[in-house]
Amino acid sequence: MSSGTTRPRVLATGVSRSSEAGTGERSDRPEAWPAWLEDFSAALAYAEHVVLSGNVRDLYPSADKNGLRFLPLVDTLGIVLRRRGVGTVLVYDPADGFRPARDGRPAGEEGLAGKDLDLGAKPVSLPALADVVLEVTGSARPPVALVLDYATHLHGGSPQELEDFFVRIDKASRSLSGSAETRRRSPTIWIVDHPADLPDWFVVGNDQLREIVVEHPALEDRFAFAHRLMEDFGWGTSLTPAERKQALQQFALECEGETLAAMRAIARIATDEGLDLGLIPDAIRIHRTGSRRNPWASPVLFARVKQARTLLEARIKGQPHAIEKTLDILARSIMGLSGSQSGPRHQKPRGVLFFAGPTGVGKTELAKAVTELLFGDEAACQRFDMSEFMEEASVSRLIGAPPGHPGHERGGELVNAAHRRPFSVFLFDEIEKAHPRILDMFLQILDEGRLTDARGATAYFAQALIVFTSNIGVAQGASTTNMGLSVLPSDSHDELHAKVTAAVHDYFQTKLRRPELVSRIGQNIVVFDFLSPASASLIFGAILDRVLDTIRRRHGTRIAIGEEARAKLRMLCIHDYFDGGRGIGNRIETHFINPLARHLFEREDLSDLRVVDVVAKRDTTTLVFGDTHQDDPGHGSFAGLARGPGVRAVPRRIGHEEIVQPTTPAPRPFRRRPP
Ligand SMILES: Nc1ncnc2c1ncn2[C@@H]1O[C@H](COP(=O)(O)OP(=O)(O)OP(=O)(O)O)[C@@H](O)[C@H]1O
Ligand SMILES: [Mg+2]
Repeated sequence: MSSGTTRPRVLATGVSRSSEAGTGERSDRPEAWPAWLEDFSAALAYAEHVVLSGNVRDLYPSADKNGLRFLPLVDTLGIVLRRRGVGTVLVYDPADGFRPARDGRPAGEEGLAGKDLDLGAKPVSLPALADVVLEVTGSARPPVALVLDYATHLHGGSPQELEDFFVRIDKASRSLSGSAETRRRSPTIWIVDHPADLPDWFVVGNDQLREIVVEHPALEDRFAFAHRLMEDFGWGTSLTPAERKQALQQFALECEGETLAAMRAIARIATDEGLDLGLIPDAIRIHRTGSRRNPWASPVLFARVKQARTLLEARIKGQPHAIEKTLDILARSIMGLSGSQSGPRHQKPRGVLFFAGPTGVGKTELAKAVTELLFGDEAACQRFDMSEFMEEASVSRLIGAPPGHPGHERGGELVNAAHRRPFSVFLFDEIEKAHPRILDMFLQILDEGRLTDARGATAYFAQALIVFTSNIGVAQGASTTNMGLSVLPSDSHDELHAKVTAAVHDYFQTKLRRPELVSRIGQNIVVFDFLSPASASLIFGAILDRVLDTIRRRHGTRIAIGEEARAKLRMLCIHDYFDGGRGIGNRIETHFINPLARHLFEREDLSDLRVVDVVAKRDTTTLVFGDTHQDDPGHGSFAGLARGPGVRAVPRRIGHEEIVQPTTPAPRPFRRRPP
């Protein structure tokens, strides 16, 4: 059960406040309690037990003649309880035992006089605690409220002892329920981690018990607290009142979903880092990412971005339009302008890219290339294969299992990844395969740049780039689309762009009925072209080079491929490139890697090799090797090929064709070369 957040606040002055941030001045802020605190106050009229969960470790506003104060929960409750006629508010927690709540008056013991209670500042056994609860709430005059803080962590010597504890309390409160007066005025308040932490039988259907979820602070409370922090930390002395107000509003807006305690932590960071009011967003970023570094503002990034086009084109073949559009969107991301049209309240991700197009044409590859460009490390690409998230229940893999379910404490993969590496690229591959509920989760990420997990922890995506890939609008084999539109390899880029974009819109709007998603990604759709024969050939060359390079680095063996052999191999690998680069890679494996591996395995040594022919017969392809010393230009050479360590360098003739570029030194060879 939760307190309603939408209800207007009940104000002691009877004045209705707008939901906009007020000025934060005391005179302008009548006594205003958050809605959940109103619920709490109202519940005291009839409930003997009130269970509080949610945002229970924060600070909360309450006002009295001294002005607005921000106090911890038990002290705030103390104020409300005192107003409801309670004499003493006694707090117990399993670490420190009993203490009176600080409620603005001297710690009173009214109502406790004459009782033989062990109220020392130390934990007591559960039976002793039950004695106190029964004694204190049973007959005290004036009534005494008992706040059991950390009630989730009350543990007895055995499960039976805990059970007995609740049975005694339940029995006693039910036997008292006849006496209306007692019942109303001696409440027990349970502060728990999760609503389900007390035994079900005790909570469910108990009409003397009220559950209340303590909400996160509303905008007006955040604003008032920002104002308080400004006073406490002496900020903004060089700003005009209007500038100060605007900066405070920005602070309050950007802290949506944060606790007031987090705002105070941000204020401390700002002071430590010498950041004044105008630079609070930097302190917020440091608080959320845990890092002072801002890779988005690093000079290294700017240097790399200058060569962005060259870097991306070197890796992604035959996709000039996709690269162009990606660069446009990246420019906005790097300048921090994504989402800037929505005003100062943008905590949206740095950028969003929606890569659509045929299969195997470089969408995932470009996402990885972009990651490397931005963060210098492909590992900063956090990839989620959405085909693994087709079931509604799989949402818990991303945001964690609900409380009480196995694995709850582990949290969710996506949220954990965002905590671990806030500066990264989140790649959601094949987004159309995800269950629609998972797509709803993306709305929050795209809109607010954050996601709350099942444990209530918030992960931020404001420093991340979000990339979706999809085949929407392009059926495999490239003839018709799943929307009935036909896209053809012969289509111009404009035609393809129009058809695919229409299909993406149609998919989200009509099929999924999630038009909001289209409006979030609409401007960021990057359409990839089919591969042309020329780009297929370039991809073939790039993959083959990678293979040769890997062999050289792993085993120290350099492999040259003669021109004819290479041409034959190319024909075998790219004759049908409609399945994209992945198909080319697969065929390189069939026609080159497999026969080569067989040969390397059977050979005794790791000396260099020269492939002079490729013979494909039905299911098997055989490589024909020639003399590595042969001086035949048509047979390939080792020109410029570096060796791995442990490999004797033999001078070679330089032929006219080459394949592999020297790269980093090889790790250990897996077999020793003969001396
Ligand atoms: N345009 C390209 N330039 C260079 N390599 C490419 C290109 N397209 C595909 N490849 C190669 O093909 C492999 C598969 O490409 P990639 O994973 O990027 O396909 P995709 O477009 O994401 O396809 P899918 O929609 O099926 O996921 C890559 O690892 C890469 O080696
Ligand atoms: Mg892909």
